[in-house]
Amino acid sequence: MSEGSTVLAPNAAAGDTQTARILIIDDEVAIRESLETLLVLEGYSVGTAPDGIKGLDELERQPYDLVLLDLALPGENGIDLLPRILDRRPELPVIMITAYGTVTNVVDAIRAGARNFVQKPWENEKLLADIRAAIAQHRTEEENVQLKRALKQRYTFENIVGKSESMLRILDLVAQVAPSRFTVLIQGETGTGKDVIAKAIHANSPRRDKPFVPINTGALPTELLESQLFGHVKGAFTSAHAAQKGLFEIANGGTLFLDEIGTMGLETQAKILRVLQDRRFRPLGSVQEVQVDVRILAATNSNLRQSVREGRFREDLYYRLNVVTIDLPPLRSRREDIPLLAIHFLERFSEENQLETRRLAPEVMRAMMDYEWPGNVRELEHVIARGVALSPTPVIPLDVLPGELTGRSYSASMLEHDANASLFDILEDIERRIIIDKLERCNWNQTEAAEQFRIPLSTLNQKIKRLNIEIRKKQKE
Ligand SMILES: Nc1ncnc2c1ncn2[C@@H]1O[C@H](COP(=O)(O)OP(=O)(O)OP(=O)(O)O)[C@@H](O)[C@H]1O
Ligand SMILES: [Mg+2]
Repeated sequence: MSEGSTVLAPNAAAGDTQTARILIIDDEVAIRESLETLLVLEGYSVGTAPDGIKGLDELERQPYDLVLLDLALPGENGIDLLPRILDRRPELPVIMITAYGTVTNVVDAIRAGARNFVQKPWENEKLLADIRAAIAQHRTEEENVQLKRALKQRYTFENIVGKSESMLRILDLVAQVAPSRFTVLIQGETGTGKDVIAKAIHANSPRRDKPFVPINTGALPTELLESQLFGHVKGAFTSAHAAQKGLFEIANGGTLFLDEIGTMGLETQAKILRVLQDRRFRPLGSVQEVQVDVRILAATNSNLRQSVREGRFREDLYYRLNVVTIDLPPLRSRREDIPLLAIHFLERFSEENQLETRRLAPEVMRAMMDYEWPGNVRELEHVIARGVALSPTPVIPLDVLPGELTGRSYSASMLEHDANASLFDILEDIERRIIIDKLERCNWNQTEAAEQFRIPLSTLNQKIKRLNIEIRKKQKE
């Protein structure tokens, strides 16, 4: 086949709905031909070039989706050519082809922005898998840009990413209920985006220029919570040295977001119900009622209906809150959102750290697609933040990922122990690892970890002390 020609194959490349176009730049005819045959048989359109100059020409002529670039080219070598390719097409995935034993050059190439490399002689299956992964990632990046543009045109959903049917349905629902005054109950596991959705509802409502006031109703003791919500007059209780406005008043005209409502005490529930019904309330210690116009959004990661059945949540309040319910699905049941979210966070953290955009090695993306994500989007966000921080190269390698993602999970390593260790020591070691793992998943929030373990917080704290577990600071959310 002649240089620069493209072969249009009848079948789409394996797994792809669109035929991708690949450019091979290599000076050895035999290599070009064997790669071309391999790729054409897979259904790709292929172009070839024997050197950098012809390669760049070819890139101008056709919209390629990927380049296979030989490292050792005559004249200008692959490493020098790479920046010139990326200048023209910054997002184009380039996979380097290298001879055995050119490790330092490979590192240079990855630093210069190559996605990956293959060593001669290559294994066809691995090469094809890497090509598929790089093209898929490239398409997701482009899709991400388009999606953001499309979403922006429809509503101001800043920073919400998703293309799964369930997320698109949720965004439609958000757009539909946002302009109204309806109370919305947002349910979902931890880290699924309940805060994000609450903010989007407010931002797309006529109240957007008025305050959005979030309060974590589960974190405060009753008296403190009530004085925060309803305010108090001077002297209402011993430490009330001055009058204080409550959040209901501060949120007047805007939105009050009652987060973690499932753990709110029954007394406070009764008072909230009253505000919802009458739109008025009495600050602590006051004889006068205050009238407010506040839209209520509520969120919970527990099953409120269950709490109603168990008498821990008022049924009448439940029905008041539950005018519209948004159920956020866990990330593991909308896996098509994983690549989009990953790329969204890669872009964000790279930008925040003033780095050129980081990418994921294909095996990292594969590991992410296979993982269960018990901490949902927040966990994914933290994994990417950590990857960007720890990766020595612009392409994030597998070994900077936490063990549970890469299959180096504690379940496998659990059985490995020093032959002389006592059963007691082994059990302690296992307990320590399980607790650390849980704390990591809960972002070092001990209350949440204790809840998930279904043990009292005090028991967890005792264990943390006894097992000498060093508490890392709760990460910023
Ligand atoms: N669809 C999404 N697109 C982009 N970022 C998201 C999305 N969903 C969640 N996030 C991000 O994931 C993180 C967790 O989301 P959020 O705080 O809204 O979760 P949550 O459901 O309120 O969790 P919790 O129950 O622990 O309060 C946030 O940093 C948020 O920005
Ligand atoms: Mg939240």
